[in-house]
Amino acid sequence: MRRSIQDPISRRSFLSTSSSLAAGSVFAGLSLPNVHAGRGKIRVALVGCGGRGCGAAANALSVKGAEIELVAMADVFANKPRAGREALQEQFDQKVNVPDDRLFTGFSSFKNAMDSLSVGDVVILATPPAFRWLHYQYAIEKGLHVFMEKPVTTDGPTSKRMLALNEKAKQKNLKVGVGLMSRHNVGMQELEKRIRDGALGEILMMRGYRMHAPAAFFRSKKKPEGISEVMYQIQRFHSFLWASGGNFSDFNIHIVDHLCWMKGGFPIKAQAVGGRHFRQTDEALWVDQNFDAYAVEYTFLDGTKMFFDGRCMPGCHIEYRSYAHGTKGAAIVSANSDCGLPSRIYKGQTTTDKDAIWTSDVREDQRDPYQNEWDALIAAIVADRPYNEVDTGVRTSLVTSMGRMAAHTGQEITSDEILNSDFEFAPDVEHLTEDGPAPVMPDKDGVYPVPMPGLKGKREY
Ligand SMILES: NC(=O)c1ccc[n+]([C@@H]2O[C@H](COP(=O)([O-])OP(=O)(O)OC[C@H]3O[C@@H](n4cnc5c(N)ncnc54)[C@H](O)[C@@H]3O)[C@@H](O)[C@H]2O)c1
Repeated sequence: MRRSIQDPISRRSFLSTSSSLAAGSVFAGLSLPNVHAGRGKIRVALVGCGGRGCGAAANALSVKGAEIELVAMADVFANKPRAGREALQEQFDQKVNVPDDRLFTGFSSFKNAMDSLSVGDVVILATPPAFRWLHYQYAIEKGLHVFMEKPVTTDGPTSKRMLALNEKAKQKNLKVGVGLMSRHNVGMQELEKRIRDGALGEILMMRGYRMHAPAAFFRSKKKPEGISEVMYQIQRFHSFLWASGGNFSDFNIHIVDHLCWMKGGFPIKAQAVGGRHFRQTDEALWVDQNFDAYAVEYTFLDGTKMFFDGRCMPGCHIEYRSYAHGTKGAAIVSANSDCGLPSRIYKGQTTTDKDAIWTSDVREDQRDPYQNEWDALIAAIVADRPYNEVDTGVRTSLVTSMGRMAAHTGQEITSDEILNSDFEFAPDVEHLTEDGPAPVMPDKDGVYPVPMPGLKGKREY
């Protein structure tokens, strides 16, 4: 079915500026089952025991005023759940109640972990995003509340699937948080209110930058011996478009997200340039699928522009922050990194200290948006309040993918085009096996296909 990016929620709720507001407008008037009634302890399972998964588990166990216990852990790599358990036990001691027989490994380990929970418990989905819809589908089946990391999707078909799945989650009254933590940054929440109240006048332009040296698994060497093709790609997921949407989607989504939030909507089209300057350096032959640099121009329905520059190159100018410019003044939205405090408003278009007229001032115990997002999710579960950030998460993921696809194909891409595109990066993700073929395979020299703008039509490679 052909859909518009504004289905299935109304334009009004689609344009809502905070995820909790959006949730409120979607759920208003519905009578929903209470899936936490009468239960004390909230049990949590972790799927994807890497850096962020264990970080999210730590945030869950740090929520004050609720009894929360980690009871199961799952990962495709055998060493990860055990290592994660040790690290979390050091910090949280008895709140980590994960005996050896609740440490699970393999591609179906997500089921084992969720089977260890009961209706109304919480599962953390923190694998690379290629698996998100598959794991969410099972969580909904099991009646579990969910915290899922961003990106939520990386292409059109999985975005439609997630939106459809999310309708089922809402019917079941499941509470679902998405790791777009900017929206839980209290300084940005205050800035967003001020922008809605007209502090910047009409927003004319926004810009975001994530420019630094290569980071995480942005680039990869040829696969070494001793690990299968699939496992190598999963381990280095930022290097492979099917697994993560590449570094463009994985790294840049936060700034795209909070600028859309400041604007109060999502762009309708994107054009972009990008390229790969270095493949062979003194250090190695890099065989991943990413461009080194991206410059995307997004356009909103009212003609407002949002510019995003992403670069992962050593030795170049470093900038990692975001701005909004309006008819009455400008704002620094994120002062550093994905959503760094403080946000500030300036009386002119130059963001110099002497022109600052407002600076966010956030209480010390509210300064960690990763903790705030968990406090909000657990509060909604305990109070049985509607809470669902997935529709917004899908739209932000799709807008990020729209910019990436515009750069990779060399075409202007509209929001409807990407949503209705039939190109799915990993259509068989639920059938992957450790030794089977991977969604993208290298050539005889161990090199993976890269995007070739203008030459490869509407596919990205
Ligand atoms: N919100 C944020 O600021 C933030 C920060 C970092 C990462 N993230 C997101 O969190 C997710 C994980 O990132 P990370 O940095 O923790 O990566 P990571 O590689 O450290 O952890 C991912 C883990 O998932 C496991 N895994 C992969 N596929 C799996 C599957 N099918 N079933 C079970 N386990 C599987 C991996 O083996 C790995 O241990 C990504 O989507 C990333 O974008 C978000």
